[in-house]
Amino acid sequence: MTEPSDVGAGAGGGVPPGAGGPAVPPGAGGPAVPPGAHLLVCGGAGFIGSCYVRDVLGRRDGTRITVLDKLTYAGNRANLTPVEGDPEQAARFAFVQGDIADPAAVDPLVAAADAVVDFAAESHVDRSILDPSAFLVTGVIGVRVLLEAVRRQTDLARAGERHDADGRSMGAPRFLQVSTDEVYGSVEEGSSREGDPLAPRSPYAAAKAAGDLLVGAYRATHDLDVVITRGANTYGPYQHPEKLIPLVATNAIDEEPIPLYGDGLQRRDWLHVADHAAAIDLALRHGAPGGVYNVPGGTERANRDVVAGILARLGRPWSLVRSVPDRPGHDRRYAMDGGRIAALGWRPRVLFEAGLAATVDWYRDNEAWWRAVRDSAWDAYYARQYGDRLAASTEAERPA
Ligand code: NAD
Ligand code: TYD
Repeated sequence: MTEPSDVGAGAGGGVPPGAGGPAVPPGAGGPAVPPGAHLLVCGGAGFIGSCYVRDVLGRRDGTRITVLDKLTYAGNRANLTPVEGDPEQAARFAFVQGDIADPAAVDPLVAAADAVVDFAAESHVDRSILDPSAFLVTGVIGVRVLLEAVRRQTDLARAGERHDADGRSMGAPRFLQVSTDEVYGSVEEGSSREGDPLAPRSPYAAAKAAGDLLVGAYRATHDLDVVITRGANTYGPYQHPEKLIPLVATNAIDEEPIPLYGDGLQRRDWLHVADHAAAIDLALRHGAPGGVYNVPGGTERANRDVVAGILARLGRPWSLVRSVPDRPGHDRRYAMDGGRIAALGWRPRVLFEAGLAATVDWYRDNEAWWRAVRDSAWDAYYARQYGDRLAASTEAERPA
């Protein structure tokens, strides 16, 4: 098996080996973050972060979660309603609206946490092409602010001076950065491994890669207990309608034109959000210090076939689909090797066809959720992103 402790190591994979003390093999000793710990979940009101919060609190194992979320256009308190409406879970949950790039917001929250899980990011490639500024502030400055806070708490713990509100001694906080397969760039054939060079091609992916490199630098320089996960394209309920699957489902429900970029033969590896959240939790608790873990879905599909599947589920015609001018620098394919996360004991549980059908049904049955998200700011974004493209569109070729 590949050596797991590699964040910062070598060409682009990760963190330098040896910089962070012994590489604890997966499964050695107890979990790094036990049930009942207090987690700081940054970006926990978004799509994947809120699934993580719902699933972890739903286990009712005593874990406490504080969410720090800026509530950008993509953050949505409604994603946390299931938690806040359940008294037992609500008692173990707190929400703070704030920015990970703001040390005044971050420092006291990290001081009280056993571990930090960072989902916070601007997450849409198309918006990063229109304006990358916020991607860089959150993805670079924000990650640095989190790492600095973790560094201070680590120093206190090493000096035996880190205590909780009841005066009990606390260890150094573990930091998990939620990253993406997009840091490897377009993969024409084969699959990316954790030690491969980072070769991002969109401003979104470059900001995420910068975050990974910073995490590696803090591992190498300050010996922090860090873990990185790199997940595949994720789908499921509560995803903002700007992304492919919810965009197609909601436009199809409304019988609106569906924009398919270029030839629609770009390939993505689809991962259900519950499987992604489970992999992140496993890596948080059992990942090696400095470990990087790819999280593939194992279900590679061409965009055109995904769109056809959604239309079939909703009983809508292919004639809604329009071929529009392609995304600049569009990555043709992503694919990752998942051997490391599998060695920790993770397997995806949701089969793509069943997961896609359930997701489409969720959008059909939860119109109030997505219609509230498609507000006037959405209309302005949609016009900017798709107005000219749809005007220049042609009939899209049907899948075989
Ligand atoms: P999302 O856009 O739905 O949610 C992002 C959340 O972060 C939102 O709640 C937003 O309000 C919050 N946020 C943004 N900037 C912030 C800041 N400066 N301070 C505090 N909160 C801030 O994104 P998502 O799809 O849930 O993705 C979550 C993470 O997973 C991201 O880091 C993303 O790069 C990564 N990821 C996503 C996918 C995918 O397919 N969606 C795949 C792999 C990895
Ligand atoms: P997206 O959901 O934006 O994820 P990512 O770009 O991070 O992979 O897009 C998934 C794929 O779908 C990608 O190849 C771009 C394509 N796409 C369209 O063809 N039309 C659209 O309107 C959108 C949003 C995406």
